[in-house]
Amino acid sequence: MIDPTSWIAPGVKILRSTNIGKFCILKSGIYIGENCNIKNYVLISENVSIFNDVFIDSYVKFSEKCVIGNNVTLRYNATVARNVRISNNVFIAPNVMMIYDDYKFHKKGPTLIGEGAFIGANSVLGPSVIIGKNVIIGAMSFVTKNCIEPGTYFGSPAKLIKKLKK
Ligand SMILES: CC(C)(COP(=O)(O)OP(=O)(O)OC[C@H]1O[C@@H](n2cnc3c(N)ncnc32)[C@H](O)[C@@H]1OP(=O)(O)O)[C@@H](O)C(=O)NCCC(=O)NCCS
Repeated sequence: MIDPTSWIAPGVKILRSTNIGKFCILKSGIYIGENCNIKNYVLISENVSIFNDVFIDSYVKFSEKCVIGNNVTLRYNATVARNVRISNNVFIAPNVMMIYDDYKFHKKGPTLIGEGAFIGANSVLGPSVIIGKNVIIGAMSFVTKNCIEPGTYFGSPAKLIKKLKK
């Protein structure tokens, strides 16, 4: 069901069993798969692709060209920067902020989040960082470098605190 208060650009593709709540804006070139649940006041910019079984809480914002995998959760007020790639089964907690450029505009690559990663509340990612598979980023972290090795990272700047036992 799509709430009539939401605005959807012509040509946006939305597959079956996906719900869109109140006052959302979906711009052109967007693809949304099956069984997604998009709450209220969500802004999705141009050419974003969202695959199946994705939960998008209220006030989440996506800049252009993001790709969101299957079974991803984005909680309240998360902000996803341009070109970010989020793999399957990722959890993004409330108020997470992803940054695309640094202030000198040196870092322009996309941020990549590996399968099964967990990003804690109020954390800031990026720009251009890679979060590895199953990595946990603690709440209130500022991630300035790649976090590839599986384990728990937190702090500002975020550091590997606990390696995952193999
Ligand atoms: C990072 C995290 C996963 C660690 O959990 P844990 O492995 O159980 O670690 P503990 O709680 O035992 O804490 C270990 C130490 O790290 C510190 N610590 C834990 N999380 C921290 C964080 N995010 N930032 C700074 N320090 C942190 C603790 O104070 C403790 O310090 P101490 O050894 O001096 O006592 C957890 O604290 C966290 O931040 N979770 C995110 C929760 C969240 O955002 N949920 C959103 C749900 S919608």
